[in-house]
Amino acid sequence: MMPFLPRSRRLLSIALSVFICAVIAACSTDIPNSTLNPNSQFGRDIDRLFDWLLLGGAIVFTIVEVGVLFTIILFRRRGGKGGKPRQVYGNATLEITWTLIPAAVLAFIAVPTVRTIFKYRPENVPADALQVQVIGHQWWWEFRYPELGVVTANELVLPVGRTANFALTSKDVIHSFWIPSMAGKRDVIANRTNHIYFKPDSAYAWNGFCAEFCGTSHANMRFKVFTVSPAAFDAWVAHQKTGPRFGDGPDSSVAGAGNVGAVAAPLTLAGFTNGKRPAHLVPSTPIPKGLAIANVTGDATRGAQLYKTGACIACHVVQGVSPGIVGPNLTHFGSRTTLASALYPNDPRHLALWIKDAPAMKPGSLMPALGRSARTPAGYTDQQVADIAAYLLALK
Ligand code: CUA
Repeated sequence: MMPFLPRSRRLLSIALSVFICAVIAACSTDIPNSTLNPNSQFGRDIDRLFDWLLLGGAIVFTIVEVGVLFTIILFRRRGGKGGKPRQVYGNATLEITWTLIPAAVLAFIAVPTVRTIFKYRPENVPADALQVQVIGHQWWWEFRYPELGVVTANELVLPVGRTANFALTSKDVIHSFWIPSMAGKRDVIANRTNHIYFKPDSAYAWNGFCAEFCGTSHANMRFKVFTVSPAAFDAWVAHQKTGPRFGDGPDSSVAGAGNVGAVAAPLTLAGFTNGKRPAHLVPSTPIPKGLAIANVTGDATRGAQLYKTGACIACHVVQGVSPGIVGPNLTHFGSRTTLASALYPNDPRHLALWIKDAPAMKPGSLMPALGRSARTPAGYTDQQVADIAAYLLALK
């Protein structure tokens, strides 16, 4: 069709398509990953800088383009008059002008930018800020709340209306901590502590990302952020401070089985209608081709025995059960919404496949394939894998 349309109509139809796409894209209201939809004062301050730069850029662009068009039309070659135009070499006035104007523009940009940078210096953290240590690992996030004695992984919970002050460091390479809807990016570097702080001002759930290329699974190094009411945050902390809920052996002596029932449920995601999570909270990473499991219905008690006597305990912490120091803390794993650094939903099938063959699920994963296969004939059977998954999911 297109080639037979007259040129003007083709241009018009392209312009119309672009316009319609732009209008449709603007209709989206659920934009949790956008820096243009900030949900903290820090985010808004950065957004305002962006708006000023965009406005300034638009003004400069307009002046330059009008000048170019004006020159092209006014000084175009007219019929009859041939020959070269006058050649100009070196013009001090012009050169000083085109040095001074950009310098003035840069100074105009620098003032609000530097003021914003100074406003968020580490010295300006409010005294009552919540301290959070962020530790980057290839390829997952560790979150520690040192004042509260809480350690978790890949899911960050923050109270609305209270500044959270993050101390960022890395166990290996350089990562970058980024929650687009909250604040700017900040590098996460080994042997150095960087800081960033902001105060979330609405209760919702957001996505976080690693924004610095850090190896094979850089793009798979994500996390979730839940901003909740102060009361919900206190309840979450109280729950996190207890041991795992599962079982009636040594687990529960650490858990203090008597008082576990008294604290609130793991984390109530209030604010989502009917408890239904918005689409952006549910990862949709496809399961790798060729990876399957015969059975995903496991027995948690058998799984607990396998966990305690198996390879898991060398790497993972389950409070009172295993003291591992390499992998994510699994004490309340069952209460998390995602697994493998927010790559998959935390359900029996994805978890069992993860245990069976983590490197297939996340390329480069330090966790080895634990399930039985041609490559790992001594690994766990599918049933054993399902049992371990059932145990971990029971750790609310
Ligand atoms: Cu960590 Cu990219």
